[in-house]
Amino acid sequence: MTPVLVLYYSRSGGTAKIANHIARGVESVSGCEAWLRTVPSVSADTEATAAAVPADGAPYVTRDDIEGCAALAYGSPAHFGNMAASMKYFWDSHVDVWLGSQLAGKPGAVFTSSGSLHGGHEAAQLSMIVPLLHHGMLIVGLPYSETALNHTTGGGTPYGASHISGADGKRAVDDTELGLARAHGARLATVAQALAAR
Ligand SMILES: Cc1cc2nc3c(=O)[nH]c(=O)nc-3n(C[C@H](O)[C@H](O)[C@H](O)COP(=O)(O)O)c2cc1C
Repeated sequence: MTPVLVLYYSRSGGTAKIANHIARGVESVSGCEAWLRTVPSVSADTEATAAAVPADGAPYVTRDDIEGCAALAYGSPAHFGNMAASMKYFWDSHVDVWLGSQLAGKPGAVFTSSGSLHGGHEAAQLSMIVPLLHHGMLIVGLPYSETALNHTTGGGTPYGASHISGADGKRAVDDTELGLARAHGARLATVAQALAAR
């Protein structure tokens, strides 16, 4: 099996839903499996450590997941046009992965959930691509051959899958966002498999 790590941080569930649809897209590709993982929240008390297993949702990501995956998609809510601190903390605390080039040459993708359509949604995706480039990853976006990109009224951009949660944060993932997230997962898995077969 070709393992694809689908890593996310989510405070109110929007990014988690997109992560689930990306994982389903990954597993729609024969021979690929999704490893759905999350990261702990950063705490004002920097000495605090999270329990080994979160109360709900996916397990926390481990070094074995990072080293063993053939591809990685990661998602975060848009916080001021960027990724949330908890996801940034994940990258900042894995310098050894960068030093060891453990992600270099692997395909990578980003996804997000944001409150508004024009409040930093795409800026968050673009800024999230930057760490992947530092790690030497090969960026997999969403091409316009996914024709839903032309008519989405919510999320889904050429930079990756996404969801707009609205001003009250309660807007559900719509069918277009869902389809694009699955297409993004399938595309990442297909690229991972092709690279793994070389
Ligand atoms: C600290 C903070 C900053 C935020 N910044 C933005 C922003 O820049 N643009 C935006 O559209 N939404 C912003 N939001 C709203 C979240 O991106 C939105 O509620 C998102 O759907 C949450 O995703 P989640 O359900 O995965 O936690 C912000 C929310 C918080 C708490």
